[in-house]
Amino acid sequence: MHPLNEKEISLMRSVGRLSSRILAQVGKMVEPGVSTESLDREAHKLTLSAGAIPAPLGYKGYPKSICTSVNHSICHGLPGPYLLREGDIINIDITCIKEGFHGDTSRTFYVGLVSKRAKAITECAYKAMMKGIEQVKAGNSTGDIGFAINKYVVRKGFYPVMEIGGHGVGRSFHEDPFVPSYGKKGRGDVLQANCCITVEPMVNETEAPIKEFDIPNSEIRFYETSDQTLSAQFEHTVLIKEDGYEILTLPETDFEIGY
Ligand code: MF3
Ligand code: CO
Ligand code: CO
Repeated sequence: MHPLNEKEISLMRSVGRLSSRILAQVGKMVEPGVSTESLDREAHKLTLSAGAIPAPLGYKGYPKSICTSVNHSICHGLPGPYLLREGDIINIDITCIKEGFHGDTSRTFYVGLVSKRAKAITECAYKAMMKGIEQVKAGNSTGDIGFAINKYVVRKGFYPVMEIGGHGVGRSFHEDPFVPSYGKKGRGDVLQANCCITVEPMVNETEAPIKEFDIPNSEIRFYETSDQTLSAQFEHTVLIKEDGYEILTLPETDFEIGY
């Protein structure tokens, strides 16, 4: 956890806005027949044109510029030749680096018309993220965030992923603290003012264990549900303030969950 000064906070605001703008632009391309690698190429191009760097590319050997996690893919899905199909849900996770700072954000998008179940899990992931974010305030703890996320997800009949979660973010892509999607009030790490974290719950349809897969020549792993059921996720980068929080990766225009 690294407290930032005003200048550094304004750089975090700037890169946060950039990442959310690129996520919205790439999200507009989502439709049946589009390959996940074309989303990667577009994000890569937009990031460079903005004078920024795609953080995932080469991070611990990760070979692509974004993560694209479709249906039963939980996170770190690799863009490739897969063509999106009507009814899929896809999480697109974008992190830009600008002037040394990281903005990390993701959303789950609908590919055309999707099932009621797909909508329910996607809405649940979004609202669970917002419940977690509402707990962000100096002096509160990562356990408060996890407790709020877990409570919401369980109430909706879904399952939060426990093994993976949010993280400190700033000059580094990933730093302390771990921000879980479960927990006890008051436990975990105390949140410090002027530090940034991500809140990024992954929500699964069933309690089935998650499966890890290696990426060749990389320390990064990707994760899927072991029973091929759905998983959804949203992510914001959030500034911790004395009296609350500021979301640094808000899109410029309102969006509907899933679009
Ligand atoms: N953006 C992801 C996160 O939210 C991390 C991706 S790491 C990568 O933390 F190497 F897969 F890109
Ligand atoms: Co993140
Ligand atoms: Co991310």
